[in-house]
Amino acid sequence: MAKGAGKVARLILNDAELDLPLHGGSEGPDVMDVGPLSAQGHFTYDPGFASTASCESSITYIDGDAGVLLHRGYPIEQLAEHSNHLEVCHLLLHGELPDAAEKQRFIEAARGFGAVDETLAALFQSFRQDAHPMAMLISALGGLASLHHKGLNIQDPEQRLRAALQLIGQMPALAAMCCKVRRGEAFVPPRPDLGYAANLLHMAFAAPGKDWEANPVFAKALDRILLLHADHEQNASTSTVRLAGSTGANPFACIAGGVAALWGPAHGGANEAVLRMLDRIGSERNIDRFVRKAKDKDDPFRLMGFGHRVYKNYDPRAKVIQQTCHELFEALGVEDSPLLRMAQRLERIALEDDYFVERKLYPNVDFYSGIILKAIGIPAAMFTAIFATGRTAGWVAHWHEMLSGPYRLGRPRQLYMGPRRRDFVPLQDR
Ligand code: SDX
Repeated sequence: MAKGAGKVARLILNDAELDLPLHGGSEGPDVMDVGPLSAQGHFTYDPGFASTASCESSITYIDGDAGVLLHRGYPIEQLAEHSNHLEVCHLLLHGELPDAAEKQRFIEAARGFGAVDETLAALFQSFRQDAHPMAMLISALGGLASLHHKGLNIQDPEQRLRAALQLIGQMPALAAMCCKVRRGEAFVPPRPDLGYAANLLHMAFAAPGKDWEANPVFAKALDRILLLHADHEQNASTSTVRLAGSTGANPFACIAGGVAALWGPAHGGANEAVLRMLDRIGSERNIDRFVRKAKDKDDPFRLMGFGHRVYKNYDPRAKVIQQTCHELFEALGVEDSPLLRMAQRLERIALEDDYFVERKLYPNVDFYSGIILKAIGIPAAMFTAIFATGRTAGWVAHWHEMLSGPYRLGRPRQLYMGPRRRDFVPLQDR
């Protein structure tokens, strides 16, 4: 539970004084508990929740001003350099990095959920070839909810952990099947001898009966991308999962809600939008024109991959991803990537421009990730499905954390601006 900081914020409201308790966390600012307000008939007003802490959590801490991201206390830079995605999945879900035995058990348990039920294969075969992967993922998770609902007791921690592990284990196959539908190719099952990211590449790009081996350099870069996308505190999609979970809904359905929220270009859909933006810019000589468009209030164009609700400094993940870009291209012997060069020039121009500097708009996790995914051979339409595969770890960790302690149904109030009470008007009088 939040540690009562023993301090209060004194609110003077219509000449009455109201003391709101302050709670202190292990990191970050104290929070003001506005719970007592509703008993006095008052609400707070915070569209977009920029000033609202929706819950207590011990999973991830972000300091947006300092550009800090910690998973269970470990800096993202250290995890990216020394760990891998499945270790971070264990860390997020269980609170600690696994020892050797725990790691092997976790890998084997996730691998045990790697294959997809044939009813889901039939669902994927019903999609048109141009179906967006995120739409297919939402449906597939609904399909999982149809298979795993009867008898599921989410108040049982063991059953919650099993559902969490099933989702972590199954997402690579579901994402790969989206890729296969769009390539018009037959599905390929996971291989027991391959690692998490390598298996995703195998299922997405291998063909039945043909020899194909995932490039280990690609698999390592993909694992790094999945790790960097694993969790990010109470972002829009994680908050969606928590809100759905607070009703006691089926966990697979809650994650379907998270996928739906992630799809938007303001959130996880930005990585695909960045690649389409770079393609639209086309060459470095057009950058200035697009930067002008991004600054023009009357122009809906925004610099995708720039800006963040929390980071008012460089997104630490963007730095790691940029470094991973260089490592990947060096390993591939790629001397020059016009796309990376254009992205870096766009970043340089933006970061020297007062508009972006004044608004503290820096590259975020989505700005460079698409360049890596494109270099690996993953189609742009699949980028957000890859983000969802990584973020499943965070979604299930937050869902499990919430249900592991006292929680209430999430139900915000509103500022009503509609018509005041009026009587019904019969049709003949309208
Ligand atoms: C992710 O929440 C998370 O943690 C998300 C995430 C995660 O891991 O879960 O980190 C992943 O979603 C990263 C963000 C990906 N989205 C994009 O890259 C899309 C482009 N970015 C913008 O849409 C925007 O920056 C948001 C949505 C990310 C944040 O928007 P906010 O916090 O609501 O800020 P705002 O829209 O109020 O912008 C403040 C000002 C405005 O200008 P003024 O009205 O003050 O003049 O900055 C401007 C905005 O117009 N602005 C931009 C801009 N982003 C903000 N102007 C041009 N290009 C941009 N990208």
